[in-house]
Amino acid sequence: MEKEKVILGIETSCDETSAAVLRGSTLLSNIISSQIEIHRRFGGVVPEIASRNHLTAILPVIDEAIMAAGIRRSDIDAIAVTYGAGLVGALLVGLSAAKALSYALGVPLYAVNHIEAHIAANYISSPELKPPFLAVVASGGHTGVVKVEGYNKFTLLGTTSDDAIGEAFDKVARAIGLPYPGGPEIDKRAKLGKPIIEFVSRRNKKSYALSYSGLKTAVIGYLHNAKQRGEETVTEDVCASFQKTAVDMLVDTAALAVKKTGIKTVVLAGGVAANSYLRERISGFKAMGCDVHFPPMSLCTDNAAMVCARARDMIREGLPPAALNLNAVSYLKIETGEGL
Ligand code: KG4
Ligand code: ZN
Repeated sequence: MEKEKVILGIETSCDETSAAVLRGSTLLSNIISSQIEIHRRFGGVVPEIASRNHLTAILPVIDEAIMAAGIRRSDIDAIAVTYGAGLVGALLVGLSAAKALSYALGVPLYAVNHIEAHIAANYISSPELKPPFLAVVASGGHTGVVKVEGYNKFTLLGTTSDDAIGEAFDKVARAIGLPYPGGPEIDKRAKLGKPIIEFVSRRNKKSYALSYSGLKTAVIGYLHNAKQRGEETVTEDVCASFQKTAVDMLVDTAALAVKKTGIKTVVLAGGVAANSYLRERISGFKAMGCDVHFPPMSLCTDNAAMVCARARDMIREGLPPAALNLNAVSYLKIETGEGL
């Protein structure tokens, strides 16, 4: 029997420094050092500060991942690293560490697309999952529905023309006065409120196209007008109403994709996949005969286990490793399909 490959994954695209070890289909470790507390006082991620903190965290995080996995460096068969999309300075820290390890250990380096990695997180939590399926991608930087026809075949059906859904959650939270990251804060308060405020979001229900900038502006305008008139606003209702509109838009796009493609397996991917209302709505797809998968919370937000999972499929199907002059790419997309 062929030896199960041991992959060391590295993720530094935004404000989480993470390293993980995957052996075959067993996740041996997944260490995440979050900078959220550092960036909170600025109301969002400050790129330069993120890079500096990745620099101090990266080697201890890698060492901890190796130690927690109970392996030696010489057991590692491949290094996988996120090379985009993300903050260039932040990505370069992970990339440099990955290249150095790949060179020093004499093992191949795999360049992983962050969005594809978020989707691949589902293979860890649902080992029985196989393409084809539809992935509803919802993160701080990306939003859309991706058709996954093979382990290495991703087609973007529809995406946002402006803000990402997570970005809208964070910006609306900031306008309300909630701390960064705003997504979990809105999620918590929405549970205590009613979605009774109508925030207009113009959308063609027959198209995959999404937009979050108008919705964000509508909420900010509502808060501003209320303040000018000296009226009280109910934060919980604002959160519930915004969350419902934001999530429903994406869920409508996913439902359209199920209808148009006939693919009845749907997975969630990205940080906003932790949102309780989005999980509830996508769970509702079971009534349409769909098989639905969500990663656990720890695999929804940025982590290196998903980077290992993505590289495992690249290795399995013989995709070539990267050269050591691999560079970071801030805007890295998924191939676009029929909706765009
Ligand atoms: O995937 P991720 O960790 O980083 C990017 O690749 O962007 O996603 C971070 C985003 C943030 O915008 C954060 O507010 C959002 O995920 N998020 C949530 C929840 N948990 C995290 N949004 C809504 N509800 C949540 N429970
Ligand atoms: Zn992410």
